[in-house]
Amino acid sequence: MSSLYEEISAPPAAGVPVRRVTLNVNGQDRTVDVEPRLLLAHLLRQGLKLTGTHTGCDTSNCGACTVLFDGRPIKSCTMFAVQADGHEVQTVEGLATQSSLHPLQEGFKEEHGLQCGFCTPGMMMAAKALLESNPNPTEDEIRWAISGNLCRCTGYQNIVKAILWAAEKMRGSSN
Ligand code: FES
Ligand code: FES
Repeated sequence: MSSLYEEISAPPAAGVPVRRVTLNVNGQDRTVDVEPRLLLAHLLRQGLKLTGTHTGCDTSNCGACTVLFDGRPIKSCTMFAVQADGHEVQTVEGLATQSSLHPLQEGFKEEHGLQCGFCTPGMMMAAKALLESNPNPTEDEIRWAISGNLCRCTGYQNIVKAILWAAEKMRGSSN
């Protein structure tokens, strides 16, 4: 068990109640004490040091904070950390293995699917959810799947191409 009191930059004021939660993050159980008001995005970034999950707006608009929650893409700034108690969360840090990048990571590299990279973790997690339910998506289906994720740099075309690249590679490796 680790206490977020020691880890977050603004510890709770004296007397603020905390809740102990256990969630599985990228395959590992983590038990932490959190303030009930703490957002899941902030638990991941500040408490668990998984800074690949970005926060761009904190108001559910940009999608930079997208993670998989029990396999479904959610905006982690719209959920309290306490709501994740007993659930599985996957972040962008969970994509690669010790020896290889995930095909989505390769695809974004191959097809130049990023510029500043701020939107990229959220894009990849939204795309991962898509490819797990639909291994052979059309371009329109990809655009729909990432419609909750904003990119200010790329114009989206290369992101779509990156996801198509990953889909093809994943289909090939499953044959
Ligand atoms: S930070 Fe969550 S949607 Fe923008
Ligand atoms: S690459 Fe910059 S916001 Fe998407």
